[in-house]
Amino acid sequence: MKILITGGAGFIGCNAARHFMQRGHEVVVFDNLSRKGASANLEWLRSQGRFAFIAGDVRDSRQVMDAVGGCDVVLHLAAQVAVTRSIVDPREDFETNALGTLNVLEAARLATHPPIVLFSSTNKVYGDMANTPIVEESDHYRLADLPFGVSEEYPLNFLSPYGCSKGAADQYTRDYARIYGLRTVVLRQSCIYGTRQLGVEDQGWVAWFLAATLLDRPITLYGDGKQVRDLLFVDDLVELYERVIERIDCVSGEVFNVGGGPANQLSLLQCLEQIRKVTGKEPAISFAPWRPGDQRVFVADVRRASDMVGWQPKTDVAAGIDALYEWARQNRDLLASVLSEPSPGRPAASEGIEE
Ligand SMILES: NC(=O)c1ccc[n+]([C@@H]2O[C@H](COP(=O)([O-])OP(=O)(O)OC[C@H]3O[C@@H](n4cnc5c(N)ncnc54)[C@H](O)[C@@H]3O)[C@@H](O)[C@H]2O)c1
Repeated sequence: MKILITGGAGFIGCNAARHFMQRGHEVVVFDNLSRKGASANLEWLRSQGRFAFIAGDVRDSRQVMDAVGGCDVVLHLAAQVAVTRSIVDPREDFETNALGTLNVLEAARLATHPPIVLFSSTNKVYGDMANTPIVEESDHYRLADLPFGVSEEYPLNFLSPYGCSKGAADQYTRDYARIYGLRTVVLRQSCIYGTRQLGVEDQGWVAWFLAATLLDRPITLYGDGKQVRDLLFVDDLVELYERVIERIDCVSGEVFNVGGGPANQLSLLQCLEQIRKVTGKEPAISFAPWRPGDQRVFVADVRRASDMVGWQPKTDVAAGIDALYEWARQNRDLLASVLSEPSPGRPAASEGIEE
């Protein structure tokens, strides 16, 4: 298969690109390299095998059209990924996430042989989930009535420009299957973590906590640190992408919640405890007020993905954090250089921990 990966020089994209190259597929990476460290990911990818690279921007419909033509699959990952940044510049966020996705869908629809399109959506489409009962424990919150986590039937509630732009893209992707019969699948991803994740305070919090601890940077916890996410190791996500592509005839038009599920849920405080154990270092933590809109708990109900494509998260959190630590230790200089670059403007009041 010829697989186009938009955002292929990003964290998830370069892991996916390596996987599909190793499986013998023809991989095309399409990325504008705007993410700090994307060039380093691209360089690493070059050491892993042969692929084509297009320095392109998903906001440019012509570039997207040229790239999509002739592909069997489009893995659409390119995005403006930080809620904080979306609040500073909602137009850029909209153009990249909403218009960029429309450009991909239109290019796919108009192609001579329309490719399969997988879209990486987010748990943020469910908003702050303020009406969902939770229970407070000593170092974490938990969902009171949802033992399997949050299903795809949970009401959508787009909050923040990022939530709106990804949510619009999520719904367009779904609708292109209904209205045009395009073979699309939406993957609403929770917290993905793993090797080659260049986390910063604005996005990629597990990797950020680990890098900050290694490099003796202070970490601010917004809220009490008891907020919980289900963590999914990137290799498991890539395996799901592959299964979805293989079974596209059964899952076209579907939406899947994708995360580590109930077995891999962790609060910020529990994650820091794990980091203490693996690094032998004490993270320098301080607390700041809650960010408005932060979900107290998000845990994905992954049973639909399990039922329909036979997928389960495999990597438990302890093993995943060990693997990320090992990679971070070997890439200390890269992490230091990414963290030393200035962050694009941040708002005074930002919203929510990022995935
Ligand atoms: N990492 C997570 O926990 C998580 C959770 C939910 C959803 N997602 C989604 O998964 C996708 C990949 O996330 P990631 O963590 O790998 O992020 P990332 O920032 O590492 O990767 C995104 C890539 O897109 C590229 N990009 C940005 N704007 C572009 C544009 N206009 N044109 C072309 N390329 C552009 C960046 O340079 C970067 O390489 C995103 O769509 C994100 O919203 C990620």
